[in-house]
Amino acid sequence: MAKITFDGIEIEVPDGTTIMNAARKIGGDIVPPAMCYYTPLKGTGGKCRACLVKVTAGSAKDPRPMPKLVPSCITTVQDGMVVENTTNQQVLDVRKGIVEMLLINHPLDCPVCDQAGECDLQNFAFEHGVATTRYEEERRTFEKIDIGPYIQLHMTRCILCYRCVYTADQLTEQRVHGVLGRGDAAEIGTYIDNIIDQDFSGNVIDVCPVGALTDKTWRFKQRVWFTKPVNAHRNCENPKCSGNVVLWYKGKDVLRVTARKDEYGEVKEWICNTCRFEKKETSDWTIEGPTHIERSSVISANHYELPVVNPQVIADMPESTIRDLEQNPPLKLGR
Ligand code: SF4
Ligand code: FES
Repeated sequence: MAKITFDGIEIEVPDGTTIMNAARKIGGDIVPPAMCYYTPLKGTGGKCRACLVKVTAGSAKDPRPMPKLVPSCITTVQDGMVVENTTNQQVLDVRKGIVEMLLINHPLDCPVCDQAGECDLQNFAFEHGVATTRYEEERRTFEKIDIGPYIQLHMTRCILCYRCVYTADQLTEQRVHGVLGRGDAAEIGTYIDNIIDQDFSGNVIDVCPVGALTDKTWRFKQRVWFTKPVNAHRNCENPKCSGNVVLWYKGKDVLRVTARKDEYGEVKEWICNTCRFEKKETSDWTIEGPTHIERSSVISANHYELPVVNPQVIADMPESTIRDLEQNPPLKLGR
């Protein structure tokens, strides 16, 4: 076991634990943000630098500080280590720079992006970024690519976190996409638009932290905060599929099906393409109840109540107007 101090809080964790996972054991606002690390996928982390922290004492044996900030998602703890995250101004300043760097080529198209409201980059920029940009050069742009019947890649939004590459590598039998090129020429390539038709390929949509990989059966159907997420399950024929999902309802219609995620936005159990894309009827599922959504999320914030009309105003309304409002109410009648 190793005892470490993280933002002034002492915690004991098994040897080999990463600083990030030690912080997650403490929980709350002190946990470093992660844009590429993803617990269920082996090998993730170390790409985005969102999780950099300051190690002010390396270990009990060698208490010298580490000279540079370190990525907490891939750095393991040592007994006696002292780490600073929210308590270190250098870390907070650098994090602002990381947001700026991730946004260099990322378009500011949240109003028309399907990921808006559940985008890790949007949340990261909101919590750690600055409102202005110093970037004047031309941003790189790409044509949208259809990869298979269900998934669309909009590389312009990709932050090269590699999560989708690891997902396809570890969940499907035959990977047909990966990162081609290096540096500012790096991009997700699909080998001449080879389709990803493996039965678990849809999971790349859930792991993508931005709107680069989107579900074609859901695109532009609805803003996520106008939908109602409900937990449901079915006995899936595919032995590798958990069958545990979230159904996103608008009225009585299931607009999309996703895997369930934990508090860090990580998929808890993978689901197959049949559950995700082909089971869009309530009768396909056993409903468990509403999905828990954090109160701070825009998804739970924007369930607007209809405004209520003052009963005294209704008394003066013509009968025909009242009838219209009752049949198609933009307002709720207070009576
Ligand atoms: S497409 Fe999405 S998941 Fe894949 S590397 Fe880009 S940002 Fe990450
Ligand atoms: S989450 Fe640690 S480098 Fe991306």
